[in-house]
Amino acid sequence: MDKTYGEGETAVNALKDVSFSVNKGEFLLVVGSSGSGKSTLLNMIGLLDRPTNGRIFIDGVDTMTLDDNEVSAFRNSKLGFVFQSANLIPDLTVLENVMLPRQIQRTDESATTDSLKLLRGVGLEKQAHKRANRISGGQAQRAAIARGLVNKPTIVLADEPTGNLDSITAETIVQLMKSMAKKLGQTFIVVTHEREQFGDVDRIITIKDGRAFEGEEAPSKIEVTV
Ligand SMILES: Nc1ncnc2c1ncn2[C@@H]1O[C@H](COP(=O)(O)OP(=O)(O)OP(=O)(O)O)[C@@H](O)[C@H]1O
Ligand SMILES: [Mg+2]
Repeated sequence: MDKTYGEGETAVNALKDVSFSVNKGEFLLVVGSSGSGKSTLLNMIGLLDRPTNGRIFIDGVDTMTLDDNEVSAFRNSKLGFVFQSANLIPDLTVLENVMLPRQIQRTDESATTDSLKLLRGVGLEKQAHKRANRISGGQAQRAAIARGLVNKPTIVLADEPTGNLDSITAETIVQLMKSMAKKLGQTFIVVTHEREQFGDVDRIITIKDGRAFEGEEAPSKIEVTV
């Protein structure tokens, strides 16, 4: 799969010949330096943008064959998103925010019970009925994770989910994502700058200049002679 932004002399080849498959239940970390193409990759898999060449199959569906309406419906039902900022709607309660992806699809009785169960899972049961602008940044990100899981998506895509958090809060969010992934058998693709925060993960893909490599790059050995 390739992605080029713009054309002619100003064209940027953000992704070049990228190809990999993700297994069900896998916790995949995507690492690489700034500008290497990580967010571009996540935007392609998240069907927020389309590749210039190539195909993306999710759950056996060739997503390139879907029209814009079908893409939106597919995204709402099959994908969960967690971004750097929680982006909760401030005037809604925490519970209402978590339920939102379910209400776009349909109104069902189980949306409330499922959302409450997830809020308990992320340790926010006491905050469920608070307005979203009355909780802390770390709590908001917990709620965003619950919101990302509420559709029982095929994949949760997270772009720098700990990027706005202090290192201690970030650690708890990482542990939370990993434990939810395990408990629910949930596939995660997580982009991060902070590889160390994640400890052991199922798999790592490194993006370098728009190309994807399996595994992590060995740190360069810097020798200091005084
Ligand atoms: N909408 C866009 N239009 C043009 N160029 C873009 C666009 N989005 C990204 N790019 C370019 O594509 C390349 C990859 O960008 P991308 O945002 O995917 O990097 P990244 O690995 O997520 O970086 P960071 O770690 O800083 O978030 C960069 O050269 C960037 O300038
Ligand atoms: Mg990025």
